Amino acid sequence: MIAPTETAKEFVNIQLDGQWVQVPKGMNVIEVAKAFGKLIPHYCYHPKLQVVGNCRMCLIEMGTPKMGPDRKPILGADGRPEIAWMPRPQIGCATNATEGMAFRTDSPLIQECRKGVMEFLLINHPLDCPICDQAGECQLQEFSVEFGGEKSRFVENKVKKPKRVDLGERIVLDDERCVLCSRCIRFTRDVVGDDCLGFVSRGSHTVLTAHPDKPFNNNYSLNTVDICPVGALTSKDFRFKMRVWFLKETPSICTSCGTGCNTVIGSREGVVYRQTPRENEAVNQCWMCDYGRLNFHYLNDEKRLTQPQVRVKQDFFPTDWDDVLSQVASSLKNVSPNEIAILASARMTNEELFLVKQLQKQLGGDAVLLDILPRPQKTDHLLVCDDGNPNSQGAQLFGVSQKGKKLETLRQGIASGKYRLVLALHEDLTKLGVSSENLSKIESLISLSLLSNATTEASHFILPGAGFAEKRGSMINVKGRLQRLNKATATPVDAKEDWEIFNSLIARLGGNSFSSIEEVFKEIAATCPALANLSLSKIGDQGIALNFNS
Ligand code: SF4
Ligand code: SF4
Ligand code: FES
Repeated sequence: MIAPTETAKEFVNIQLDGQWVQVPKGMNVIEVAKAFGKLIPHYCYHPKLQVVGNCRMCLIEMGTPKMGPDRKPILGADGRPEIAWMPRPQIGCATNATEGMAFRTDSPLIQECRKGVMEFLLINHPLDCPICDQAGECQLQEFSVEFGGEKSRFVENKVKKPKRVDLGERIVLDDERCVLCSRCIRFTRDVVGDDCLGFVSRGSHTVLTAHPDKPFNNNYSLNTVDICPVGALTSKDFRFKMRVWFLKETPSICTSCGTGCNTVIGSREGVVYRQTPRENEAVNQCWMCDYGRLNFHYLNDEKRLTQPQVRVKQDFFPTDWDDVLSQVASSLKNVSPNEIAILASARMTNEELFLVKQLQKQLGGDAVLLDILPRPQKTDHLLVCDDGNPNSQGAQLFGVSQKGKKLETLRQGIASGKYRLVLALHEDLTKLGVSSENLSKIESLISLSLLSNATTEASHFILPGAGFAEKRGSMINVKGRLQRLNKATATPVDAKEDWEIFNSLIARLGGNSFSSIEEVFKEIAATCPALANLSLSKIGDQGIALNFNS
């Protein structure tokens, strides 16, 4: 028996390939088969889209209970209804489970039908798999091998269609490969509300196209590349960069806004090549926005900082971690708490923010100014939320965020020379309106950053940190869901994971240090009631809804 979904409260008995099973009433037959480990091959069906039934790949044999003259099912020797099988196959995607129904998903008739559908779908297909970017994750290729015939009987000339259509800013279309499933059309029309794709022309000459006055540029366009079952839609950013079977897949989360869409990071030999959405009903279903998806190239930007540096007069000198952290620690010891300001970032993980708070405590507690830079933005009422920071909730929970209320004090304090030592953690002070002239008034400016910017250029010490794909840790999204980042690639050359940097600094100042990130989380769980009894591994790949008031 399958566990009932939230909407299905009632169960029905159905016969699936000869076995009687119980499933929620109304469950789609493709999903029923999947739940019992069987595959009904399909192209146009997608669980999140309206059913259209146009590819015919999901054919099944279907039967209903034989009815007696009393309008009651005739029961067989086993006490189950006898089945009246329909003479013709039906499409599984448009069939829902009702009491007494029977299905055959792999009978000789169905195998023959699938062969026919595959042959039909491939009539005009260019068969250019060796140069197709979808190879390795193409359902046309996979189903052709598994369910198709050995050869095509089509001897006429294939219809030629456009092969490199610029469908929008981020997508290229190969019309010859399109199987006209219409998933892309339904997605952009029904999920995004941007009705800009459609089919034109007839029969074998039908092609997908974007409306001439409405290019396919919405912020969710790349989801169509994921759901296109073939190599018709490809991402300009990813196509021909890497064969998918070489990619290491790491489940993680997007850190480009407070939604925290679940992702899979595809990387190889230390380089991230793509991010794709990972299903999580409580967060992003199975979609993500294009901005978040493509916001990883900065990890390999030429401005990436890869070594700790110390400035002497106007020149920067590379050094080692031991040296830079000792110098930073002695600078911190040489100023009084009210002369120190820390601008942290709500782009940091819970573990990092917790350690920043420990650092503040070690340096003198609330006398040390500590705040984050809020990033309010417009929500699109789909996935992009009104908070551009991925972990504002964590920053709030650990007492690092004053919601930007202290930023004016920070600005004025830098201008007046009050703050003799400033730590800028993954934030550029010039974005707060601090002028270069005022930056130069700071006696010790310490930057933890991934990329060089106006603040790092004015800094006395530069600490190169780790990007979201290069570290482990957790964040809390806008809805209070605790989620986990996983490490896909190593930090470049001599950069260090941020928690280790704070940990070493706290130890140099005489505080407690931790031997692993798990230990940091253990301490968080022991001191923060909202995370009590949790651990990094307990968060799992789907996250945990927390119960706390931010
Ligand atoms: S481009 Fe892909 S998703 Fe769109 S109709 Fe063609 S095969 Fe389907
Ligand atoms: S909606 Fe937010 S979290 Fe989701 S992919 Fe876009 S930027 Fe990332
Ligand atoms: S998946 Fe059923 S007709 Fe396409």
